[in-house]
Amino acid sequence: MFNLPACDSTSSSPKLTSLGDLDCFKSRTTKVTAAPIGELGVPTFTYSQDVNAQKPRKQRLAVIVGAGIGGTMLVATVIIIVCFCLMRARRLARRTSDTGSSESSSYVDGVRGNVSPHVGNHSSSEVQDISQLALAELRIATSNFSQSNIIGEGAFGLVYKGLLQDGSIVAIKRRFHDPSQYFAHEVQNLGQIRHRHIVKVIGYCQENREQLLIYDYMANGNVGNHLYDSEGLPIGKLDICRRLSIALGAARGLEFLHILVPPFLHTHFRTCNVLLDENFTAKVADVGLSRFLIGGYRAGPSSGIDCFCDPELSISNDFSERTDVYGFGVFLLELISGREAVGRNGSVPGQNLIEWAKSTNDLNSFVDPVLRKDQMEAIQLVMELALQCVEIGERRPSMTQIVATMEFIHEREMGHLKTEGLDEEIGVVTLGSELFK
Ligand SMILES: *[C@@H]1O[C@H](CO)[C@@H](O)[C@H](O)[C@H]1NC(C)=O
Ligand SMILES: *[C@@H]1O[C@H](CO)[C@@H](O)[C@H](O)[C@H]1NC(C)=O
Ligand SMILES: *[C@@H]1O[C@H](CO)[C@@H](O)[C@H](O)[C@H]1NC(C)=O
Ligand SMILES: *[C@@H]1O[C@H](CO)[C@@H](O)[C@H](O)[C@H]1NC(C)=O
Repeated sequence: MFNLPACDSTSSSPKLTSLGDLDCFKSRTTKVTAAPIGELGVPTFTYSQDVNAQKPRKQRLAVIVGAGIGGTMLVATVIIIVCFCLMRARRLARRTSDTGSSESSSYVDGVRGNVSPHVGNHSSSEVQDISQLALAELRIATSNFSQSNIIGEGAFGLVYKGLLQDGSIVAIKRRFHDPSQYFAHEVQNLGQIRHRHIVKVIGYCQENREQLLIYDYMANGNVGNHLYDSEGLPIGKLDICRRLSIALGAARGLEFLHILVPPFLHTHFRTCNVLLDENFTAKVADVGLSRFLIGGYRAGPSSGIDCFCDPELSISNDFSERTDVYGFGVFLLELISGREAVGRNGSVPGQNLIEWAKSTNDLNSFVDPVLRKDQMEAIQLVMELALQCVEIGERRPSMTQIVATMEFIHEREMGHLKTEGLDEEIGVVTLGSELFK
């Protein structure tokens, strides 16, 4: 029972219409400053907004007038000042509540309409408190971490689906690890990173030698599940329109991280870290998770199926925005070919997907068979972008350039589909159950 709305062009148009665009817009105008590097060398992000901008001018005037006229007028002056202060206070309160309500509505959106008692206080409109949940509640939420609630396994540990007392459905990552201040502090930092295209952290728990991270649950899992089978070969489920929207969404999420000050690197961007919510909105997952892993995610290509790394990492071993861009390029190649970059099976042609993409003259044989009909122009453009992303470091575009290019490709494709009268065909709803094998 998944509600799949028609994939429409307005939802990701570069005009400031959709929530995503507003988020992007906000990310560019909200001042984000880094606090001094903490003891652990991890910068903390602070969002600041100018609340008291205007200075009382009338006040001075009023005082001058009051002093000039003398005793009886003093009373009038006091009254004027009091009125002025009251007005100013009211204006301030209104502004704070504007920010407050916009923050909390994006917040409430995430917890499905309920203000959870766990989710901390909204006393400050600028810093969102990430709540600490009790292990007991998480046990109840997951039927005591039953096997049947396991939805995945990642570098951090097993991932469970859970139902909190407030009715929200969450994904819970669990590992056995001694509690630490660092963990609590980092989760608070990650909780400040909010964007339509980033999976939201809603809480954590440290108890009983366990560490748990609680995220919004993404009903449609990771993009890879909709592209290829267990052997890494295409299953042909997503149409071009949806693939372009997913690419654009993921690009916006990653761009948001990169334009923070200082830039926030994902360091492990890949297809299985792009999740899809019930409406197939792409959300970047595992943001900042590498900070909790000893030695980070730095497993090289030798670690096999688990990772596909930027070859330049083995030279410099320094992560940069360009490393994430490489990961994004590989993601685009998977998206248009429907093949996993690193096949689970040695005989899978996708094993050398990147080499294949670089060397092929035959785009038609590279792309997912389901896309081979008439959207080749868009695919050609995506292919060119992907190849730029996997170039040597300094030739790779920035995420901001990638977003602009993806917006262009997406808009253009939607325009074509409309003029060709194909938009109705695109609007055909695929039942959620069909998307699962
Ligand atoms: C929220 O505020 C209340 C009092 O206003 C306090 O008792 C409670 O501990 C606070 N919760 C958190 C998570 O800070
Ligand atoms: C939950 O499982 C653990 C071991 O997996 C067990 O020790 C504990 O008693 C269980 N708790 C409940 C409430 O079933
Ligand atoms: C999905 O779309 C529907 C209808 O547009 C909306 O009501 C719902 O809140 C959306 N769900 C999410 C998780 O954004
Ligand atoms: C790879 O796939 C082929 C069939 O496609 C199968 O026969 C072979 O056993 C697989 N190899 C491995 C290592 O899984």
